[in-house]
Amino acid sequence: MADIAPAAKIIDGKVYAERLREQVAREVTRLRADYNLQPGLAVVLVGDDAASQIYVRSKGEHSLAVGMHSVTHRLPADVSQVELLRLVGELNADPAIHGILVQLPLPKGFDEQAVIAAISPDKDVDGLHVVNAGRLANGVPALTPCTPLGCMIMLREAVGDLSGLRAVVVGRSVLVGRPIAQLLLQADCTVTIAHSRTRDLPAVCREADILVAAVGRPRMIRGDWIKPGAAVIDVGINRVPFDDPIKAAAGRTKVVGDVHYKEASQVAGWITPVPGGVGLMTVAVLLQNTVTAAKRIAGLD
Ligand code: GUN
Repeated sequence: MADIAPAAKIIDGKVYAERLREQVAREVTRLRADYNLQPGLAVVLVGDDAASQIYVRSKGEHSLAVGMHSVTHRLPADVSQVELLRLVGELNADPAIHGILVQLPLPKGFDEQAVIAAISPDKDVDGLHVVNAGRLANGVPALTPCTPLGCMIMLREAVGDLSGLRAVVVGRSVLVGRPIAQLLLQADCTVTIAHSRTRDLPAVCREADILVAAVGRPRMIRGDWIKPGAAVIDVGINRVPFDDPIKAAAGRTKVVGDVHYKEASQVAGWITPVPGGVGLMTVAVLLQNTVTAAKRIAGLD
């Protein structure tokens, strides 16, 4: 039997990310031509985590492709916290660098909070420094975490005006849940942050005109948790065995989101696929944040 066509409009991350990277590339060209300013991004990777290596390579390649200055520092897992902090200090002082990103998670034994706190807030293109989190919470200009900002760009372009809509964010992480809740509030949504202790989570989700899933649990959010016509933003990136038992037995895995896509796409009005949705926007927003940081540091913003 043929699959029933999904009801939801698909929010295609590839299209949005390409468009944003083109905008960033044009802005980099303008800054270089008019102000002799080349935005520079430094990415720091500690250890040899396979997924982190892929992300870091992608950040380096995309920053070069839009005409930025790009450096990647790869440090062994046994580098000391003191040496890592010294590198962050050097990058803070380097006038060719406007954005610093230390890839997370750091290997066991590092104090992540201390490393993030050592990054100059003006160069914190991840938006993770408490100064930027505080600015975001106060609704004043901040460097904003990349994934949440990418979600908002897609939501605004797909849905339009978000004012007055009920938004439910499932997950309260510093990287995604909390900052996206702040951005939805700035967009005049009525925001609920749900989490592992929330009572009757399906009923809370069913209230949402905008449902953001950022919990890291594969396909947790089912079709009957979704209000018909809602916009569903799936931030989850979970590796699971293939449904096909032969592929699963061969140890093959695939990536799925926190939302049960097949069910949810029959009910939602808009939905981001995984892969191919939010994840693709993150690097594009990182480039945009680096341009924003460079302009602010140069007094051009
Ligand atoms: N690891 C996974 N996502 C991110 C991110 O957005 N920033 C950093 N620094 N590390 C990550």
